[in-house]
Amino acid sequence: MKGAIYFISKYGSTAQYANWIGNASGLPVRCVNNSNVDPMAYDFLVIASPVVFGKLLIGEWVKDNLAAIDGKPVIMVTVSGPQLDPDLDTWLGDSLPPELVSRMKHIALRGRRVFRNLTWYDRLMLRVEAMRARDQSARKEKLEDFDFVDKSCIYPVENLAREMQLSKAAHPHILS
Ligand SMILES: Cc1cc2nc3c(=O)[nH]c(=O)nc-3n(C[C@H](O)[C@H](O)[C@H](O)COP(=O)(O)O)c2cc1C
Repeated sequence: MKGAIYFISKYGSTAQYANWIGNASGLPVRCVNNSNVDPMAYDFLVIASPVVFGKLLIGEWVKDNLAAIDGKPVIMVTVSGPQLDPDLDTWLGDSLPPELVSRMKHIALRGRRVFRNLTWYDRLMLRVEAMRARDQSARKEKLEDFDFVDKSCIYPVENLAREMQLSKAAHPHILS
């Protein structure tokens, strides 16, 4: 099957993962903010998004492109905080259509956050969240830098993408 990677990234770590996955699998890599390439042209999609304030940033793009995603195999890659948060499933459910959540393969990766590189708005909102945090360690977590971006973590995504590339298209007309 013919696939592609669609991603969005605010501070670069999801873009880095998408490019690594693209290089390893040979799939084309498209940033949804500047790509006009219609996902309709592909049999399966790898969709990569950071989680920011409990939302997948790619949620709007997914809703706008549901017709092209409908029924196709999807590997959803989320990039998020230092702990893989137990709320991650809730965030997926809040950001994506239930039909997609129930059938997609989800791989959760950990990203990077460097406080001094954030917009003033993001810094402010994180400080507000830190003030509301239930305890000292949760407060610290909101404000601490972290960097878990690691090329070796893409292997599960690469393997799934390979499997999909090798399987037969459900819509053979797309390949012609
Ligand atoms: C403003 C801000 C809010 C964030 N909110 C969350 C969050 O709610 N949950 C979480 O697990 N990670 C959160 N993160 C961590 C990001 O998911 C992580 O930094 C990710 O690597 C960002 O991806 P990007 O570099 O592609 O933009 C947040 C990061 C920032 C900068």
